[in-house]
Order: sequence, then C-alpha cells, then structure tokens
Amino acid sequence: MKKIIIAIDGHSSCGKSTMAKDLASKIGYTYIDTGAMYRAVTYYALQHDLFLPDGSIKLDKLEAAMPDIHITFRFNEETRRPDTYLNNEYIEDKIRGMEVSAHVSPIATVGFVRTAMVAQQQEMGRAKGIVMDGRDIGTVVFPDAELKVFVTATAEVRAQRRYDELLGKGQPASFEEILENVKERDRIDSSREISPLRQADDAILLDNSNLTIPQQNEWLMEQYLRVCNEE
Ligand code: DC
Repeated sequence: MKKIIIAIDGHSSCGKSTMAKDLASKIGYTYIDTGAMYRAVTYYALQHDLFLPDGSIKLDKLEAAMPDIHITFRFNEETRRPDTYLNNEYIEDKIRGMEVSAHVSPIATVGFVRTAMVAQQQEMGRAKGIVMDGRDIGTVVFPDAELKVFVTATAEVRAQRRYDELLGKGQPASFEEILENVKERDRIDSSREISPLRQADDAILLDNSNLTIPQQNEWLMEQYLRVCNEE
C-alpha cells in the first residue's frame, strides 16, 4: 500500500501522542513526537543555564549552541515506543517533568529553534510512512500531508489526564498546577507569532473529551483506512 504522511496537531495533553503511537505501531509507520524535540532543546537550555531568572531566554547563547544540539529517537523494544536522546544521552524521562513543561512554550516561540526543528522534521518524513504529532505539522511542516487531524479536549480533561500520567510514573504532581500549565501553554501556543497553533483548513477536527483511548484509536484507524482507499 502507498505510504502517506499523517499529521496530528492539537492542544497540549489531549492524547495526540497516544493515538499517533498506536496507529503507527499497528500500520508499521514511524512515529515522531515533535513536542519531544522542543522539550529536548528546553532541557539543553536548562542544563546550560540559558534562562534568566525572569524566565526569558539567553537568545544569543542558545542560537550559538544550536549546532551542538542533536536530537534523535531510538525505538525502545520493551515499551514499543521511541525514546528521545539529546547528544546520545537518554532524556526521555527528564523531558516529561514539570520543569521542562514549564519552560518549553517560550523555547517553542523562538524563530531559529523552529526553523531548525522543522528542517529536521521534514527530513524525517522525506520517505513518508510517518505519523507525526505536534502543533504545526499540518500547517507548516507538511502542508501537503495526505491525512491531517486536529485534536482537542477541554482544559480540565487534559489536566486530569496529565495528572494521572505523572502519578502513574510516581512523579509528584498538583492538579491545580497542571491545569494552570495546560491553560498557559494553550495561550502561548495559540498566540505566538511564528507558526501559532491553529487547525489547518483541510484538517479533520476531533474533540476527544468524552472518548476512551480505544475509541479514539479506532476513530483514527478509520480515517487512515478511508484516506488510503481514496488514494
Ligand atoms: O506536545 P508537547 O506538550 O510535548 O509539546 C511541548 C511544547 O512544544 C508545547 O508548548 C508546544 C510546543 N510544540 C510546538 O510549538 N510545535 C510542535 N510541532 C510541537 C510542540
């Protein structure tokens, strides 16, 4: 069957990656979590003291460091998911905690960071056969993707899911703090100047507030099969 590009965009913590990973593994596609790439840059910036006390970024230093930031994914046979590596260091767990989450949106607004990430993402999708999730995949990275989905759910539902996920991993969390973080990221992601989060005109909208994980996985599989049959 002809390989296609599947772009899954939407708000933070709305289950995009869960459905994208599930579909990729069922149909033998590569799954790419572009949020993890912005998180990896954020982790690098935190490690190298590139934030000022007011939360702003030392842009000159970050720009000079960009050639030293190499992000790769390695498939983990045990979890059946790709893990994120920064300069060959395993950072998958580190980029999911509250510290990176609280600093990632400003990093994702920086033009030279986005240019570098988008170029890498386009390279990763050159041979097609990918499911890529993010914020600007259907609008900027792959405007010609054969299947585009825009996922959303209420902020409260998304905060609850993130809270449950962190507790499940044994990481301490406060629901109120997470809800604030979800809302703040929505605000920054949607209002930034470069590649703001928005639904592509030809994307299919999915509000999964009231869907279970198996239901949303099934929905995505149906969309994939429909597009493949049309191709
Ligand atoms: O999907 P996530 O929560 O891991 O994304 C982390 C941050 O990166 C979030 O603030 C939005 C941003 N992001 C982006 O701007 N563009 C993407 N393609 C993916 C994520």
